[in-house]
Amino acid sequence: PPRPPWRPGDGRVVRLAASRPSPTTRTSGGTSMTPRSDLRSAPGSPFAGAEGTPSRPPEPAAAERLAFWAREAGNLDWETPWSQVLDWTDAPFARWFTGGRLNVAHNCVDRHVEAGHGDQVAFHWEGEPGDTRTITYADLKREVCKTANALLSLGLSTGDRVAIQLPMIPEAVFAMLACARLGLPHSVVFGGFSPAALRSRIEDAGARLLITSDGQYRRGRAEPLKANTDEATRHTPSVEHVLVVRRTGTEVPWTEGRDLWWHDLVDAQPDEHRPESFDAEHPLFILYTSGTTGKPKGILHTSGGYLTQVAYTHRTAFDLAPDTDVYWCTADIGWITGHSYIVYGPLANRATSVMYEGTPNTPHQGRHFEIIERFGVSVYYTAPTLIRTFMKWGEHIPARYDLSSIRVLGSVGEPINPEAWRWYRTHLGAERAPIVDTWWQTETGAVMIAPVPGAAPAKPGSAQQPVPGISAKVVDDQGAEVGRGERGYLVLDQPWPSMLRGVWGDDERYRETYWARFAHLGYYFAGDGARYDEDGDIWLLGRVDDVMNVSGHRISTAEVESALVSYPAVAEAAVVGASDTTTGQAIVAFVILRGGVVRSAGDVTAALREHVAREIGPIAKPRQIMVVPELPKTRSGKIMRRLLRDVAEKREVGDVTTLADSSVMDLINAGLADSR
Ligand code: PRX
Repeated sequence: PPRPPWRPGDGRVVRLAASRPSPTTRTSGGTSMTPRSDLRSAPGSPFAGAEGTPSRPPEPAAAERLAFWAREAGNLDWETPWSQVLDWTDAPFARWFTGGRLNVAHNCVDRHVEAGHGDQVAFHWEGEPGDTRTITYADLKREVCKTANALLSLGLSTGDRVAIQLPMIPEAVFAMLACARLGLPHSVVFGGFSPAALRSRIEDAGARLLITSDGQYRRGRAEPLKANTDEATRHTPSVEHVLVVRRTGTEVPWTEGRDLWWHDLVDAQPDEHRPESFDAEHPLFILYTSGTTGKPKGILHTSGGYLTQVAYTHRTAFDLAPDTDVYWCTADIGWITGHSYIVYGPLANRATSVMYEGTPNTPHQGRHFEIIERFGVSVYYTAPTLIRTFMKWGEHIPARYDLSSIRVLGSVGEPINPEAWRWYRTHLGAERAPIVDTWWQTETGAVMIAPVPGAAPAKPGSAQQPVPGISAKVVDDQGAEVGRGERGYLVLDQPWPSMLRGVWGDDERYRETYWARFAHLGYYFAGDGARYDEDGDIWLLGRVDDVMNVSGHRISTAEVESALVSYPAVAEAAVVGASDTTTGQAIVAFVILRGGVVRSAGDVTAALREHVAREIGPIAKPRQIMVVPELPKTRSGKIMRRLLRDVAEKREVGDVTTLADSSVMDLINAGLADSR
């Protein structure tokens, strides 16, 4: 029997009375000092339950925070209301909106069409060669339904995983939403990742279907993609079908019975599909990110809490007006920014977005500005690395275009240096658009720290304050909050709706990576250094672990090292992130060659760079590889990356007294002087 139609507003039936956010929900660590003993037993403390601390009535700030999130969740359509906002008894495994049921795709698509907005543009899409497509919400609904029907025809059922490696084309969005609609967790893999990287992600998730394309446009050229994915799927028996979108017309290898063309399968499907509701904690997607070991972690996100926070942050951080704004996030859907701020957040908010397929300098360096002018982009969200690239190209380029539509500018991925901030503000923002510097991570799912546009006095280079509903602190080694003007580690001391729910298939790694560092306090350890300024505002200082940030992409030193040592000529390798004026950090590798390898450093290093690109992807190519006779190690055998960073950044080498052999640095320097 047909199920009752969706009833908008069901989500407002909540146990906690909705309340207006009060200043106390905006907890800036710099201004509110909670005694530590209170934190330990606070109901929000992740380990309160685990330690068997008797539960107490929630402290007022925690209750208000939950009420705040309940109100935000009420902006979504729920088929069944939740019974509890947060269940933290199994901390650090959170359950938000327990008992609630919803369909994420319905919330991103159908409900807008049902409310009469079918003709509103969801995406102004532009391909790198200049072709365009306009996709309204009604179009989106039809395409998502057809795709969902196609996936059903392949026998996929709730819970099956789908891997997606696609360029920035509308089918990528259709595929993600079709998965969401059917309760199939997707795992999107960035188009620039190698077959080996794709393979390990498919294997880890056990994906049954891979969705890809024949090729992708990159800097004006059509490059093969299907040929690469075939290399990956040769070793992945879990993949039963490969669904292929025709994008470039590139010739493709074909496996009869397994491979299917999108235009054959999807286009023939009925364009209606009735969505089923899923538990608020139903897995929505897995997204792999680099950690401190060589193996990427599958970060797991679920449905109700994730959608609540991405929608809320997208609306408030950019002050979104769905009827008038044209919003453009320049990320790739292969990263969390693309998931949360191209797909789920904007669509949940009924935004009109621009989606662009290609590189910013194809066919000319004004491409982004031309697109802003053509579509009247009012909210533009990008990464500091691109801003610094624009700076290098010169301000005369944006000056040729009418950028007066711009109202809000966003930044994400790495700390934005004040010079880039000012340039952004002057040359794109006409000295008036607020710049929203958003700090967050794949793990946090959504923006956590950002200035409210226009509300706070701007501070070039500071993400400033946790957004309302979020609590963050800067703490010392012991977890005690540092004072104003002091540095420490960034922690999140309260759970949040879009938090990761774990590492796919590895609960221990989840606890170990994020919760062990401050286990006695139950804080989430972000892996970033930060400081409070004299006003209590937060400044992010970069990673404190062995994770590099190259052009806003996270790459672990261990991942690159293991790629390097898999090359036969390499005996040992150490990798550091050295500061770089364009990319933030650049990868610098030090390698020891195996005995007997004739050292023609030029040849070896060129081959090694290609090898790393093949193993991981071009984004992981070292900027520089130095062949050295030894590596600096402590007595316990740990590589002292600090000293290598000194070499890579051409500084005086620091304190070497903890080295097992303090002459190693002289040896390295002498060798490098030789080869320079
Ligand atoms: O070091 C921080 C940096 O990027 C890391 C998260 O990387 P990823 O999971 O790939 O997500 C990037 C996009 C959300 C953080 O640990 N980072 C991100 N945004 C900022 C930042 N550092 C400083 N300021 C930011 N606005």
